[in-house]
Amino acid sequence: MLPQTKTKIHNPKSRAMLLAALYIAQEQYGWLSEQAIQRVAERLGLTPGQVYATASFYTMFKLKPQGQYRIQVCEGLSCYLIGGAEPVIEFIKKRLDITNGGTSPDGKFTLEIVQCLAACDLAPAIKINDELYGNITDEKIDQLIAELSAKE
Ligand code: FES
Repeated sequence: MLPQTKTKIHNPKSRAMLLAALYIAQEQYGWLSEQAIQRVAERLGLTPGQVYATASFYTMFKLKPQGQYRIQVCEGLSCYLIGGAEPVIEFIKKRLDITNGGTSPDGKFTLEIVQCLAACDLAPAIKINDELYGNITDEKIDQLIAELSAKE
């Protein structure tokens, strides 16, 4: 019989606050840089490795700089079945000279492929920052990009 080892969880309160702290740091800085990870670790009495391990587990946390506008394209089943996901993704990639997870050369847009935006009845759907857009077409995307590009 193997000896049993007990894993002690250090700083349980700090670990409980970690997700909220990472969320706040990302809101403040736009992404979680090494410096932001370090700062969260110091504040919570955790190691940067512990903080990084959590941050890198969740896709909602961004570990590289993000564009001013984060375009999320749904490739969930409803959007896929209506034939929207791939053509929309390809259109945005070409339009913005961007890759999945990448940021446009002007730093304005980041493209992210996601699973279901909870707007299946509006498929194909995309989200730009906190705004949802349904029944999306190439023309609508073009218009949105033009409007957002014109903003400071
Ligand atoms: S599958 Fe696209 S919004 Fe639900």
